Amino acid sequence: MCGIIAYQGVHNADQRIVEGLKHLEYRGYDSWGIAVATATGKMHRKRQVGEIGKVSLKSLNLPEAHIGIGHTRWATHGGVTQKNAHPHFSMNKKIVLVHNGIVENDEVLRKELRKKGYVFQSETDSEVVVNLIENYRKKVSLKEAVRKTMKDIAGRNAIVVLEQDGKELIATRNGSPLIVGVGEKEVYIASDIPAFLEHTQTVYYLDDGQMVVVQEGKPQFFDLTNGKKISRRKITVDIEPEQAEKGSYDHFMIKEIMDQKETTRKAVDQNERQLMEVAKMIKKAYGSFLVGCGSAAAVCKLGEYIFSTVANKHINAVEASEFRHFFGFLTSKSLMIVVSQSGETADVIEAIEVAKKKNVKIIGILNNTNSTIGRLADYVFPIHAGQERAVASTKAITAQFVVMTLLAYAAKGNVLEGKRKLVDVASQMNELLNPRYEKHIQRIARVLKNKEHVYILGRGLNVPVAKESSIKIQEISYIHAESFAAGELKHGPLALVTKGTPVIVLVGKDDTEDEMLSNAKEVKARGGMIIGISPENHSVFDHWLHVPNVGDMSYMVNILPVQLLSYYLGIMKGHNPDKPRNLAKSVTVK
Ligand code: AGP
Repeated sequence: MCGIIAYQGVHNADQRIVEGLKHLEYRGYDSWGIAVATATGKMHRKRQVGEIGKVSLKSLNLPEAHIGIGHTRWATHGGVTQKNAHPHFSMNKKIVLVHNGIVENDEVLRKELRKKGYVFQSETDSEVVVNLIENYRKKVSLKEAVRKTMKDIAGRNAIVVLEQDGKELIATRNGSPLIVGVGEKEVYIASDIPAFLEHTQTVYYLDDGQMVVVQEGKPQFFDLTNGKKISRRKITVDIEPEQAEKGSYDHFMIKEIMDQKETTRKAVDQNERQLMEVAKMIKKAYGSFLVGCGSAAAVCKLGEYIFSTVANKHINAVEASEFRHFFGFLTSKSLMIVVSQSGETADVIEAIEVAKKKNVKIIGILNNTNSTIGRLADYVFPIHAGQERAVASTKAITAQFVVMTLLAYAAKGNVLEGKRKLVDVASQMNELLNPRYEKHIQRIARVLKNKEHVYILGRGLNVPVAKESSIKIQEISYIHAESFAAGELKHGPLALVTKGTPVIVLVGKDDTEDEMLSNAKEVKARGGMIIGISPENHSVFDHWLHVPNVGDMSYMVNILPVQLLSYYLGIMKGHNPDKPRNLAKSVTVK
């Protein structure tokens, strides 16, 4: 959440920072800002509400400078205003800062600073941080002032600081990601690699409790606790910049939906030995937990069902944000399987940190394997989905479904059966994603676009798919979408159905099919409009969205029409499907 980029080097800082911010916009797009320090020791700052996407460098009219910091914001403390946009100056305007995270003791620190005469221009906790630094700076070096400030602030945070003389950049993290990129006579500090990927693939990962000081195009690393110099390993990352481009598509979301033609198949390619080893651990473990947030939490729930049906093994799926209520059940015999596209989700990281203290082994099902979670996990299954840029997760979800399925088949003792079935499903998915199908989806989207509510029903393995479907429709169309286990309908939700209420039913080709169809009839009898997702057309459907018959793996294909439907609903309602309001791709705050 929030994108940070800082630059020092031979090129123009404003150009490198603006370019970097455009790549980081998926982390937050409420407002953006940039500050540069010139060789003559003058600081210049520009901030604006809105997205940086269309802003031209020229229009900023910043002077030549070779050091600077930038930020694209997802608001936490304080509304979406220019005053709350980063970078923030300290009161004497000599220090400027960008910040990602939440300062949990912000109120107390603000009061103390006020007593010392500090006046605040914004409502942000970030301005508290920069003024704490200014206060310490009166007596110590900038590096020491940053170190002392980090000791004072509670919560998960990352900051980059620049002083007016423009001699150095200082950055540090405690719970929020920062990566240092080193190019030819230039250094970048950013919250994610795409910010500088065009210029260098050589990086240093900063871990919690570490600090980097960049002077004259060289980074030096320090321990935040004692200020002593430390060495960090230089890594060359294997990410292609073009993976992140839209190509001929209008939006990343539709491109990424279509990418599933290849990504689902790619996800099947997992290290068999590791699958078997982890499966053995799952079978032996006393209390295994599947942990994730949002769509990844839906994948975890699906995992709970798949493990039960395929491997006769119970695993507990818990939303990471709720996991602390279950900490007490973790022992050294437990296992934690975390699911995350970004590998940076704060609630998941917190759950891992607690688990690690209890010697729990961590297994990650991840897209970004170089992420914080990737580095914390004991075993990583890369989902091979390629970079996902749209805020709404699509190809990462189906790839996570694949890995979860393989793990369950490995636990059953027949990973090859799982692989064979999934390869077949992947080829059938491939055939579905075609322009004719899209046209049909658009027709259904026209029917739904002015509805206020949509309900989605599933049974068994399709209960988590219904949940994931509701998330997709909510975030892209802003229509109230809610999912239910179909059997729960008559225990309350059926009261919501009136004439014309749209209800999407996800039909599984398994022992849930008949019951699902009779639930659909119950809805229809109350006037509901049934949109059936199924290999066959049934008389109860008012509208039919065909999917291939993939037997007991219907969860793999049933999500596809809903992804497309969400996309076209968003388009028809005039939204930007890549950047839903109020959301961000990487949720690095709790
Ligand atoms: C998905 O469409 C959402 N944008 C969101 O729920 C997402 O899945 C969640 O924030 C978890 O992210 P992660 O996979 O990067 O951990």
